[in-house]
Amino acid sequence: MLEKDVISPAAYLARLRRLRRKTRLRELVKETTIEPSSLIYPIFVKEGLGRPEPISSMPGIFRYPIEVAVQEIGEARGLGLNAFLIFGIPMRKDAKGSEAYNRDGIVQRCVRRIRESIGDDVIVVTDVCLCQYTDHGHCGIVEDGLVVNDETVKLLALTALTHAEAGADMVAPSSMMDHQVAAIRKALDDAGFTDVAVMGYSAKYASAFYGPFRDAAYSAPRFGDRKTYQMDFRNVREAVREIQADIREGADIVMVKPALAYLDVIARARRLFNHPLAAYNVSGEYTMLKLAAAAGVIDEKQGVYEVLMAIKRAGADLIISYHAKDLLRWRREGWLP
Ligand code: PBG
Repeated sequence: MLEKDVISPAAYLARLRRLRRKTRLRELVKETTIEPSSLIYPIFVKEGLGRPEPISSMPGIFRYPIEVAVQEIGEARGLGLNAFLIFGIPMRKDAKGSEAYNRDGIVQRCVRRIRESIGDDVIVVTDVCLCQYTDHGHCGIVEDGLVVNDETVKLLALTALTHAEAGADMVAPSSMMDHQVAAIRKALDDAGFTDVAVMGYSAKYASAFYGPFRDAAYSAPRFGDRKTYQMDFRNVREAVREIQADIREGADIVMVKPALAYLDVIARARRLFNHPLAAYNVSGEYTMLKLAAAAGVIDEKQGVYEVLMAIKRAGADLIISYHAKDLLRWRREGWLP
């Protein structure tokens, strides 16, 4: 029996391969694009460093001294990247993460230098959390072995305020404390920083894919894990509640993190909310691909392109990715998927 005998004539006339016939046609009918203007590139700045230090868990990514970080940002801007997420690695850690809210801390100084040397025409986002700054490695204050919420939130608000004072456009609280967005919004507003935006790491899961980042930032918890504050990856309705909470508390942008194993969460958030939606293509997702490429089993360019497109297609407006600079460099070099 021929195919035309079992399917309707209209279906028989449809040949979906017609529009796949050549590159230009595929370009014409593509449903998803990645604009450089919707990518955010993470930058690690480390106090007391003389020269860039390669991060062994993240091939191609470095810890930078402030001055080199500023140069790196300048270079990335040349490729079309204009938004950066700054992570600080302090020299001193203590139980209360004091360096996080030190007005002369590593992030605060870095943001000031970016403003002095590049000016206002670059979007500076700062990660607001305590884990790089506490000696126990947890994202908040620990009392009797527990991470206490409300005391932590006060310090996060103070941290965000010092970032705003230094010139950040946007602060991004990532510690998964309840009410962190509300506390930060209030602290910013009370100090007159009504225009500084808040990007909530709203649905941030307790994930094995943060492993390389914790090596990069020396921020692994010394005891226990982050499961009492980061989300359980078996849940998606709970992610909706987390995003709802951040929106009620005044978040301007909401986020799903990680991205690749959480495309269903991104798609759900896209359907239910109208806020700009960010997805964090995290360190473990980056390193998996880099190592597979280094082993010669996955084509890096195609792999990166496919992953970032998938995150976009799932519904993310913005993507935070360590691949951002590579992708734009490949495009600059004329590479086409
Ligand atoms: C800080 C923070 C982490 C990441 C972003 N902000 C680490 C963590 O929660 O343990 C992870 C980013 C990545 O893996 O790329 N709380």
